[in-house]
Amino acid sequence: MRILVTGGAGFIGCNFVRFLLRNYPDVQLTILDKLTYAGNLANLADVLDDNRLCFFEGDICDRTAASDAMADAEVVVHLAAETHVDRSIMGAERAARTNFMGTQTLLEVAREVQPRLFLHVSTDEVYGCCPVGAFSEEAPLNPRNPYAAAKAGADRLAYAYYITYGLPVVISRPCNNYGPYQYPEKLVPFFVYRALRDEPLPVYGDGQQVRDWLHTDDHCRAMQILMERGLPGEAYNIPAGNERTNLATIRLILDELGKPESLIQFVEDRPGHDVRYALTGDKLAALGWQPQVPWEQGMRSTVRWFVEHRDWLEQSIARSREYFEQWYAGRV
Ligand code: NAD
Ligand code: DAU
Repeated sequence: MRILVTGGAGFIGCNFVRFLLRNYPDVQLTILDKLTYAGNLANLADVLDDNRLCFFEGDICDRTAASDAMADAEVVVHLAAETHVDRSIMGAERAARTNFMGTQTLLEVAREVQPRLFLHVSTDEVYGCCPVGAFSEEAPLNPRNPYAAAKAGADRLAYAYYITYGLPVVISRPCNNYGPYQYPEKLVPFFVYRALRDEPLPVYGDGQQVRDWLHTDDHCRAMQILMERGLPGEAYNIPAGNERTNLATIRLILDELGKPESLIQFVEDRPGHDVRYALTGDKLAALGWQPQVPWEQGMRSTVRWFVEHRDWLEQSIARSREYFEQWYAGRV
């Protein structure tokens, strides 16, 4: 099987690339990745010389790069995006360009290449905040920050290419992922980094916001099922059943590191902060998927992974000094 993975040098991408190489002996894999601050060839160091893998450095907004990379792909798994909500709040342009226009470029190239399947990885953030209950795939989209809005645009554009041109698009909407190689601007690795240095942990607002935590291993299995059994034109939620307040997650991180809760510092909230995301999962469960990684075990082993890869953590943070200084100025 010939598969193109966009964003394969990022967090979920590099885990999924490894998963595909492990589970599909005959796979021919191409990665298209711009290697932004979040993309890193070091994330793929142990698989880069696998002769089933071909890496293209390029921008998904560049039609030539997209055509070269997609070439004769049978399956496209589209992960590349500007993924950090806080950065999109500081400036929405990059998220709008990559997440929306980059997706449009890929969809247009796919009309020529005609892959068997185009798996568009969207996000639970497209539904917006869910104070009670859980959103099914039929719920209206109500994105509330620039990242989520650009992803919602891409989600519906992918659907429009199915309706208008018959492109076999499947859309997934996963909840918050955690696991090895997550770029340390996101809550879990960022707080591990700071706690290891005994620096205060900047908790937005009251820390009572709720996220549902999906281990990347479970997410990889969900993408596999969607690649094999997803119905074109359909969207599939990927919940994990691990709803936790941010404070509960942070306390577990501190406990695993043996660090005191006095490191917690409540700071000015994220503007437009979605206080809770929650999804129903019946559609994906009907295809045979269930999450397998227990939250506490997965979170503790993820924290240990970052401790064991402290050089990676430090070097990743160093690529974004300016961002951290700007965003957290006045917060910590
Ligand atoms: P990430 O930020 O870790 O990685 C993104 C990758 O995309 C990087 O390798 C980066 O270099 C690449 N990239 C960015 N702009 C590009 C461009 N213009 N052209 C080519 N490559 C580009 O992101 P992630 O957390 O691995 O997320 C992957 C996908 O999953 C995204 O589409 C995201 O919206 C979605 N998603 C993530 C989560 C999560 O919790 N991490 C949850 C739901 C959905
Ligand atoms: O829900 C899926 C989304 O999850 C993905 O689509 C996004 O790409 C991904 O970044 C993630 O978005 P979040 O905003 O939920 O993740 P983040 O790690 O930035 O924040 C998680 C929670 O922690 C959120 O409620 C904000 C809070 N937080 C985060 C940071 C970085 C803090 O309190 N302090 C912080 O410094």
